[in-house]
Amino acid sequence: MDGPSGTGKTTVARKLANRLGAGYLDTGAMYRAITLAALRSEVDVAEADAVTKAAKAAELEVGTDPNAPVALLDGEDVAAEIRGDQVTSAVSAVAAVPAVRDLLVGMQRRIIERVLAERGGIVVEGRDIGTVVAPDAPLKIFLTASADVRAARRLAQDSAAGREANHVDVLRSVDRRDRLDSTRATNPMRPADDAVEFDTSDLGIEGVVTSLCELAEQ
Ligand code: CDP
Repeated sequence: MDGPSGTGKTTVARKLANRLGAGYLDTGAMYRAITLAALRSEVDVAEADAVTKAAKAAELEVGTDPNAPVALLDGEDVAAEIRGDQVTSAVSAVAAVPAVRDLLVGMQRRIIERVLAERGGIVVEGRDIGTVVAPDAPLKIFLTASADVRAARRLAQDSAAGREANHVDVLRSVDRRDRLDSTRATNPMRPADDAVEFDTSDLGIEGVVTSLCELAEQ
């Protein structure tokens, strides 16, 4: 499942995994954790070599249970910190570094293989899952929503998590990240040719999950 920020991807992916009895992988959390590692080593995120070095040195662990998303960096729980503004502003630059993508795509494929062997299914969310990470996936979904709706959803999430924000700033930040993610040279965000595109602007989460569940069970 791919798509930009604020489309409801994470909520939908976790609910879908639950309904299907499948595992779940949030690849965005992996890029975010590597970004935090780079920031903690005081690396300039525009310096690809330094970012790559920090990424290789980081010990990253992500959970695959849709009910308990875990993100550990060097053994520390960073699930909340990786959602903060600092990481959010820097993550697209880190995710544009080809060596970082190579490293994480390799890890993601190994996790997917393990979970498929253990549970028989997995819902994976990100920006390049259908195009790069799992081009042979039996079902590819690309979620979209209008920029305004996406910013409003992000704002609601930020408020719920106690982060201060306003609509204009969030809209700008979401827009900037989408532009960077969809124009980077390596594996830009785009729907796979055989992806089912879903506009979630006017749909409730449950409606989207039910439709996707039907598609997955076909
Ligand atoms: O939750 P949100 O949609 O805001 O973002 P995320 O899924 O946590 O992803 C954070 C960032 O990681 C994205 O803006 C991309 O820069 C990068 N990312 C990526 O490049 N490829 C992926 N498969 C997943 C995330």
